[in-house]
Amino acid sequence: MSHDDYPTDNPAVVTCGLPYANGDLHIGHLRTYVSGDVLARAFGKLDQRTAFVSGSDMHGTPVAVNAEKEGVSPREFALRHHEKYEATFPKFGIEFDNYGHTDDETNTELTREIVRKLDEEGYVYEKEIMVAWDPVEDDPLPDRYVEGTCPYCGAHARGDECDEGCGRHLEPGEIEDPTSTLTGNPAEYRERTHKFFRVSELQEYLKGFIDRLEGTDNAKNQPREWIEGELKDWCITRDMDWGIDYPESSVAPREQRDRDGETVEDSEDLVLYVWVDAPIEYIASTKQYTERVGADIFDWEDVWKDDGEIVHIIGRDIIQHHTVFWPAMLRVAGFNEPRAVMASGFVNLDGEGFSTSRNRAVWADDYLVEGFDPDLLRYYLTTTGGFERDVNFSWNQFQERVNGELVGTVGNFVYRSLLFAARNYDGAPDAEASDEVRHRIESAVDDFAAAINDYSLKRLGDAATALAAFGNEYIQRNEPWKLTDDDPDRAEQVIYDCVQLSKALAVLFAPVLPDAAATLWSQLGEDGSVHDAALDDALAAPRGDFGEPNELFEKIEDERVEELNEKLRERIEAATSDDEEAEDETVNDDFQPVSDDRISFDEFQDLDLRVGRIETAEPIEGADALVRLEVDIGVETRQIVAGLKQLHDVDDLPGTKIVVVVNLEKAELFGVESNGMLLAAGEQADLLTTYGDAEPGTKIQ
Ligand code: 2FM
Ligand code: ZN
Repeated sequence: MSHDDYPTDNPAVVTCGLPYANGDLHIGHLRTYVSGDVLARAFGKLDQRTAFVSGSDMHGTPVAVNAEKEGVSPREFALRHHEKYEATFPKFGIEFDNYGHTDDETNTELTREIVRKLDEEGYVYEKEIMVAWDPVEDDPLPDRYVEGTCPYCGAHARGDECDEGCGRHLEPGEIEDPTSTLTGNPAEYRERTHKFFRVSELQEYLKGFIDRLEGTDNAKNQPREWIEGELKDWCITRDMDWGIDYPESSVAPREQRDRDGETVEDSEDLVLYVWVDAPIEYIASTKQYTERVGADIFDWEDVWKDDGEIVHIIGRDIIQHHTVFWPAMLRVAGFNEPRAVMASGFVNLDGEGFSTSRNRAVWADDYLVEGFDPDLLRYYLTTTGGFERDVNFSWNQFQERVNGELVGTVGNFVYRSLLFAARNYDGAPDAEASDEVRHRIESAVDDFAAAINDYSLKRLGDAATALAAFGNEYIQRNEPWKLTDDDPDRAEQVIYDCVQLSKALAVLFAPVLPDAAATLWSQLGEDGSVHDAALDDALAAPRGDFGEPNELFEKIEDERVEELNEKLRERIEAATSDDEEAEDETVNDDFQPVSDDRISFDEFQDLDLRVGRIETAEPIEGADALVRLEVDIGVETRQIVAGLKQLHDVDDLPGTKIVVVVNLEKAELFGVESNGMLLAAGEQADLLTTYGDAEPGTKIQ
């Protein structure tokens, strides 16, 4: 790995976080893959030798449990989804050099080899741990099916991560007050023997790694707290039979004890934790690419073992895996470390998170069935907000960006320029680019290259859009239509400039808008493919003859947006009413059963609940979900930390009346003191407020 600017002499590999082969893809999932594709194509423009790889994540509990529900084997279930993903990505212009899966032979072999190496190097040991157990089903509870309280920040936590609080990976046995989400029953912890990877011994290495790491700020900063704090060893096995077996069956005979310490029969297999074999697919997929094209074209060992630029593109919920566990594994196994990790925010729908279970999503298939060009979505996902921020999707905002920027700015400029050129000169007039236009293109090319080196895909797209805006201003200012009779030379010069600008736009937009850029390239009568053109071709002379163009983008009409909104509403309502009907017939499984343990009125009175009013709200840097609030509770103003960032618009919070437990022990969340707790309902953190005018400080009784 180097820290030289791209392009470097080393080969690069761009990877995207592996999707679980477990359900349909929606446009929220596509953000990672579009971003990977944009970066890989942009590297190509810089002449950075690159392989773009990923694959499906076939193992893990969600796959096993959903397969069982369908009555098929996990392998059959996962393969079906894998094949669907493989077919869907190209429909969005996402062209992997290799897309494999974690259950194939290459990944299985490589995973075994790497784990054996960790073992041989003395980095693996066995330990008895407490594993969550469903006492009703008498089964170990897979990570996803345990919920309770995060031991680090006190937030509600599910499975193997604290996704509503501090964002940490949680080890088996760590969740406090566990309940089974399958039955709603309190879960038990039972003792089991598992394998652990000595991540703690790699603390010094990881400190250096995180200092060297490039990419987005969240990926570079968030892990510091984990790495510099008490770095715990990592449990790398799970009680399951779907996954890659621990190599050479070297696991010591395992036994399980119940709560009374009695030994009970152990019928479960032990496999590698899904997070061990999943990232190894990045290497396996690159290896498969080499096997297909030959090592002279791209050698996976050059990039992974010799000297290569490894860039991981992921969602921000899996930063810890990519900046702590993964580099630790690579280090011990003798592979290169990642040069950069780019961790994106999520995509929300009309201000709220996607919910696949509630059908509250714009599915990838629906988008295609509506007949929209994939480029429009690629543009929206790449250029709406910074990479680390959540992107809101609504059909109205989509329409606004498409009609305003793609139709109104980009499409409008190239159409009017090429039409004028074709009608008056049968193509590019005989001229040379003016200094003004050449300099403007040079500066857009520089912005493009700088954006890649800063890992900013938005700036890369913005550089091209700004050039189109300049083009519109330039043609408007120079009014070539008034010059053709009075000053034909000047008219030719202006239109030549516009054709040159259009050619530059084709080159600069190729990563974000691969279809439109290819169409524009052929409208310009250029040879070959715009995807083989280098960045410098933005300044090469336009080729010459061409006929009248077609418009690159189509305006989205208001009626269309209303229809799309209506369809989405109906779908969500249908899913909700299905849920309600099901709830009428049965007890709602989503709710935990009411506890039989009653508290006395006096005990209730011990709680000091007050009306509060949020005065200020600001996100806590580095914490995915946490917000620091100043809350007026009548007698004083309190600092309270709450996990609201992803569920509420932080700017809307000030002024909101809330209910606060004011006599709760102080806590420290992400290094910030929280002096009280606000009350909120459910997973969407629906804030409790007052019905009337009760003032801050009023006691709730
Ligand atoms: O969180 C997820 O969806 C995982 N399937 C991502 C795996 S990425 C990698 F490490 F392979
Ligand atoms: Zn936490």
